[in-house]
Amino acid sequence: MPQISPSILSADFARLADEAEAVRGSDWLHVDVMDNHFVPNLTLGVPVVESLARATDIPLDCHLMIEDPDRWAPQFVEAGAGSITFHVEAAAAPVRLAREIRAKGARASMALKPGTPIEPYEDLLPELDMLLIMTVEPGFGGQAFLDIMLPKIRRTRELIAKHDLELWLQVDGGVSASTIERCAEAGADVFVAGSAVYGAEDPAEAVRSLRELAAKASADAWWACAH
Ligand code: DX5
Ligand code: ZN
Repeated sequence: MPQISPSILSADFARLADEAEAVRGSDWLHVDVMDNHFVPNLTLGVPVVESLARATDIPLDCHLMIEDPDRWAPQFVEAGAGSITFHVEAAAAPVRLAREIRAKGARASMALKPGTPIEPYEDLLPELDMLLIMTVEPGFGGQAFLDIMLPKIRRTRELIAKHDLELWLQVDGGVSASTIERCAEAGADVFVAGSAVYGAEDPAEAVRSLRELAAKASADAWWACAH
């Protein structure tokens, strides 16, 4: 079953507990951490994640768009995140970092910016619980989905099948009712959606309908049939 992770970047930051409640039934809550160095935007840090983890039962999926994730990621696990995504472009030692995140009890995930290929990282995949393929340049919500990322999603799904891995494949950026089916057909199974969920009149209903669209689109896909 596809999973949906609404991004609180598009939520009202003064009412985060209510905004989590508004997407009840989501598999994850996606928390975008930005440091104004790795990306040209600044959002939130460990204390906010700590409070949010106490305020909701939905597990937190922290997407670290920051320099030096090797130093910061463990603190986000301690703050209560269930899954930590670091960018490979920023990590000094991705294997050591993934092992540390797992050892601390969270799921370890690695993200690739649009310009970063998957192929050099084939041997690292068994160290990960999830791989995130960015479908926009990271930094802002509400950007247009990059169709040119679809071949990378497909090639990553092929690598997952080739090595018979239990690796989730997440997409983030411009995912909506009009793009989610393409992502699911190509091989994604975890979908981040910010504006498509929080811009909707009924965010919980938007989550359900996105999940349904993804489920239908992946039902007949080669990679899901092989499962
Ligand atoms: C962008 C963030 C995304 C963002 C997605 O850098 O990583 O998680 O919130 O927003 P939408 O779904 O509006 O593109
Ligand atoms: Zn994100």
